[in-house]
Amino acid sequence: MKQKIAAYIDEVSVFKADNLEQLEQFRLKFLGKKGIIPALFADFKKVPPEDRREMGQLINSLKQAVQKKIVTLKEELESSGDTTTTDLDLTLPSEAPLGSRHPLSVVRNEIIEIFSRIGFNISEGPEIEDDFHNFTALNFPEDHPARDMQDTFFIEKDPDIALRTHTSSVQVRVMEKSQPPIRTISPGRVFRNEAISARAHCIFHQVEGLYVDEDVSFADLKQTLFYFAKELFGENTRIRFRPSYFPFTEPSAEMDVSCNICGGKGCNICKYTGWVEILGCGMVDPNVLEACNIDNKKYTGFAFGMGIERITMLKYQINDLRLFFENDLRFLNQFRSAY
Ligand code: PHE
Repeated sequence: MKQKIAAYIDEVSVFKADNLEQLEQFRLKFLGKKGIIPALFADFKKVPPEDRREMGQLINSLKQAVQKKIVTLKEELESSGDTTTTDLDLTLPSEAPLGSRHPLSVVRNEIIEIFSRIGFNISEGPEIEDDFHNFTALNFPEDHPARDMQDTFFIEKDPDIALRTHTSSVQVRVMEKSQPPIRTISPGRVFRNEAISARAHCIFHQVEGLYVDEDVSFADLKQTLFYFAKELFGENTRIRFRPSYFPFTEPSAEMDVSCNICGGKGCNICKYTGWVEILGCGMVDPNVLEACNIDNKKYTGFAFGMGIERITMLKYQINDLRLFFENDLRFLNQFRSAY
C-alpha cells in the first residue's frame, strides 16, 4: 500500500492538463466518490494499528498534493484563455498607437477634394516616362535646358527614358486617350536633378490640372484658380497673375496668393511683399493639342501645376522641405489632428 501511494504521488506531481476537461477527469480520478483517495481511506481500516500513523500521513499528503495541483492547473488554464469564464473583454479599445497621415497626403487630399467638387476627375500615369510624353508632346524645343542631364534623371539615352520631371506627362496620356470635354487633375511624384536644400529636393510632389473644351478662356482659368485659392487658404484670399513662360502654354502665368500668414501686410514668410507664389498656369498651346490628336481649331484649354511641398510649407509654416522626407516622429506627430 505504501508503494502504491508513493507511485500516486509521483503521478500527481508530473500530471499536466491541456484543458479544463482533462483537469476535471483528474479530479474525479482521485477525489471522486469512487476515486482513488476515498478507496485508500476505505482500505485504511484494514491497516494494522502500528502502521496507521505513517499510512494516514501518506494518504493525507497525497490528498493535499492532488488539491494543490488542481488549484495551480486551474489558474494556469484560465489565464491562458482556455475557458469562457476568464475576464477577457474583446470590446476594450486597443492600446496600439494609431497612425496618422503624412502632411503631404493631407494637403494632396484637400486639393483633390476641392477640384473634385467642381467636376475634375483624377488621372495617374507612370513615374518612368519616355521623351514624347514628358517633353516632345509638350512642345519642348530640341535644345531646351530641361532635356539636359543636369536637370533630368535619365535612365536610358536614345531613345530617351527618364524619371518624369512633372505630371504634365499624365495629361498628355489623358488627351491621347480621350476627347474633350476633359477636366482632370494629376497628383503624383516627380523628379528633378537638383541639389537637396531647405527649399529644393530631387523628389517632390505635384498636382497638375487640365481643362479642355469648346470656348475655354483665360477667364475660366482665373475663376477656377480663384475658387481653389479661397477654398484652400480662406475666404479673404486674393490672387494675382504675373506673366511667365512655359513651352506648353501660351499665354503663361504664375499665380500668387495674398500671404495667409500676415493677410498681405508683409511678414518674413512672404518676404514683406504680401504675396506668395503658388503655381504656374496658362492656356494650352495649340501645338500640344495637335500632338495629342485634339482638334485645336475647335477646342481650347487651360492647364496649371503646383508643388504640394510648397503649398504645405505655406499652410503649416514649415521652413525646411527636408522635414517631409526624414520621417522624424517629432515632426509627423504634429499632424495627428489633420485629416
Ligand atoms: N509643368 C509645370 C511645372 O512642372 C507646371 C505647369 C503646368 C505650368 C501647367 C503651366 C501649366 O513646373
